Amino acid sequence: MERVRCRHRDDHRAEQRKVKRVDLLVRKMVMKAIFGTTLLVVSLLAARVPAVAQQPQHSLPWFNTSLSPDERANLLLHEMTQAEKIQMVHGIGWGPLRPGSPVPLGNNGGAGEVVGIPRLGIPDLNQADSAVGIRMAAEQSRYATLLPSVLGAAASWDNDAAYLYGDVIGRELRAQGYNESIGGGVDLARDPRNGRLFEYPGEDPVLAGYTVGNLIRGVQANHVMGDIKHYAFNDQETGRTIVDVHIDHKAARESDLLAFELGIRIGHPASVMCSYNKLNGDWACENDWLLNHILKHDWNFPGFVLSDWEGTHSTVKAVMAGLDMEQPSSDFFGPALAQAVSSGSVPQARLDDMVHRILRGMFATGVIDHPTTPRKVVDPFLGRDDAQKIAEESIVMLKNVGGVLPLNPARLHTIAIIGAHADVGVMSGGGSAQVDAPGGNTIRPNTPTQWGEPVYFPSSPMRYIREHAPNADVRFDAGVDLVSAATLAKNSDVAIVFADQYMSEGADSLTLSLPNNQDALIQAVTAANPHTVVVLVTGNPVSMPWAHQASAILEAWYPGIGGGQAIANILFGSVNPSGKLPITFAKSEADLPHPQIFGIDASAGQAGLPEHWSAERQKTSFPANFTEGARVGYKWFDSEDKQPLFPFGFGLSYTTFRYSGLHADAASKSVTFTLENTGQRAGTEITEVYVQLPHSSGENFRRLAGWQRVALAPGEQRSIHIELESLALASFDEAAEKWQWLPGDYVVSVGGSSRDLHLQGGMTMR
Ligand code: BGC
Repeated sequence: MERVRCRHRDDHRAEQRKVKRVDLLVRKMVMKAIFGTTLLVVSLLAARVPAVAQQPQHSLPWFNTSLSPDERANLLLHEMTQAEKIQMVHGIGWGPLRPGSPVPLGNNGGAGEVVGIPRLGIPDLNQADSAVGIRMAAEQSRYATLLPSVLGAAASWDNDAAYLYGDVIGRELRAQGYNESIGGGVDLARDPRNGRLFEYPGEDPVLAGYTVGNLIRGVQANHVMGDIKHYAFNDQETGRTIVDVHIDHKAARESDLLAFELGIRIGHPASVMCSYNKLNGDWACENDWLLNHILKHDWNFPGFVLSDWEGTHSTVKAVMAGLDMEQPSSDFFGPALAQAVSSGSVPQARLDDMVHRILRGMFATGVIDHPTTPRKVVDPFLGRDDAQKIAEESIVMLKNVGGVLPLNPARLHTIAIIGAHADVGVMSGGGSAQVDAPGGNTIRPNTPTQWGEPVYFPSSPMRYIREHAPNADVRFDAGVDLVSAATLAKNSDVAIVFADQYMSEGADSLTLSLPNNQDALIQAVTAANPHTVVVLVTGNPVSMPWAHQASAILEAWYPGIGGGQAIANILFGSVNPSGKLPITFAKSEADLPHPQIFGIDASAGQAGLPEHWSAERQKTSFPANFTEGARVGYKWFDSEDKQPLFPFGFGLSYTTFRYSGLHADAASKSVTFTLENTGQRAGTEITEVYVQLPHSSGENFRRLAGWQRVALAPGEQRSIHIELESLALASFDEAAEKWQWLPGDYVVSVGGSSRDLHLQGGMTMR
């Protein structure tokens, strides 16, 4: 369907040996850039290379840490030759990602690299995919922590957990010798079938923006450059390199772009990765409106824009639209850019601006002042503990009837565990977010994993369930044979059936259904045993035709390396569940704004699926009309009066909470109310505040405007004060091109989910 990327690197080491001359190759590339024009040769001759090289680096003026990042970048830029400037704005080719591609000596094994300039103290930029942990570690004999999915982390509604998430990534990147993360996905969950939703923090722009912004803070606290991606509207994987998204500017600013705006405001990432798709007719990586107008002008973003891998389509147009770095190659930003500058089609000042932005990010995050120490070893135990903590906050209890949960080990003699390889591990998400499992894929330890093949991590739910119920007979059935699974369930006190769904970059799920006959499995098990708990290990929301039959349902997302323990702790109540859905669970595709994913021709049957597209079709752009505008997720369901399976913001606890006494204050844009734990157990409630704008907005839905996690002992009550996100109350005025706060009455609702709003109030803005 799109370019096929072979990511096996079995022969990688041999390859590295073979390509020691690659250093030369990179130099050759640079030389090509230089000799492309006489002007550049002149600039090379003029460069005082040796003079700078002879000084001790700390005495170089740009090492003066009392200067601002911008001042330091300017001083450094002044010393650079034209060839060095060109070298800074592109990558080295596919490198370790593709066998046979040149890999420079000293390459750190990541997805991207920009070769440094040692004479000036500019280190190599080693970029690693790191959406849910660091990718491609095993091949370098390294270990990386697999965190829960980003969607899972968003279900904690916890800025501190998001920061911790980024901190794990940042500290492990640093220990492994990387100085730039190329994670930070925040594309809005417009379609619950999007293959990369597990890399993104859900459907609400404010929750998503806060989550990714705090995650980036955590990354950059480790003197590693952070990134936010894929800018913007990369909201489906089907035809991601050709789809042309259409949306009006107001809706764009109030939805997907708001998530980026908040993420950048909170996280200050060094870079923004532009996406593969087109927006309103122009490729995102050469889209003047997105890059120059919104990002750099309206948001005043001081960092640099790098292309998604092979997402650059031109030299002059892309550069002049605001793209600062081509990755992974130099097709457009190597010799062609040198030529464009010398011929005047790209002003020298613009090239200087591109380089300045990159250097500025390096200074601002401390990449130059605190070089990496690659010989440090990642602490896998600390990583596991952190991952488990985040997982325990992210698991959402969707149903619990008849007191089946928490499980009481004293009353259980036999426990059936069924399906999803829950005897040995938990599934992880694929694509460029794939983290290597320690010891290899737990379900196939001795076979190299192919791109697109589910990888299980060795965190066995069964093992930890046994630890909680040491006297019970705990048995496993693979769930392949429905009769055998039902028989085990029938002969057990409780059945815990696991179901999973593999998702990966490059393809969407065609439906909301669980794959591999798992709906039938769950139906068979629930029919055999009325005490059935369903544990979902999924990248995305799924439909649940069996929901009414199950006693309890947990959504565990991809729970990461501490997943087995986290699931068991929730099942047995040593952790009280607190997660709430960051995305709506629809009953069926028919309720979605677009029952069919754009680009897929359902009437053509199999032939309509991307894997059967003709070569011509694979290159032909097609429109995706986001007619729902800013009404993403719950806003769509609320305004269309559709009943979801489980609404946005929903999640149960083993205790209960009472809300009372709402007061909303327009002047300070804040609310106050009282929350009481009315149950028998300590628990944490995520309190949610929604606001409906005045009639003049024309909106017929509520917007999430604030929230707070509140931990309360049994019987405890507390006054809660929440400051609302100002932009969640704002409308984007397209004519004036700015946010405005409409005068009038705002309806304020507070409660435990978007559909369970106990308190109603109002505030008037003048
Ligand atoms: C993905 C990016 C990723 C890059 C490098 C692209 O295909 O869309 O998210 O960072 O590859 O692996």
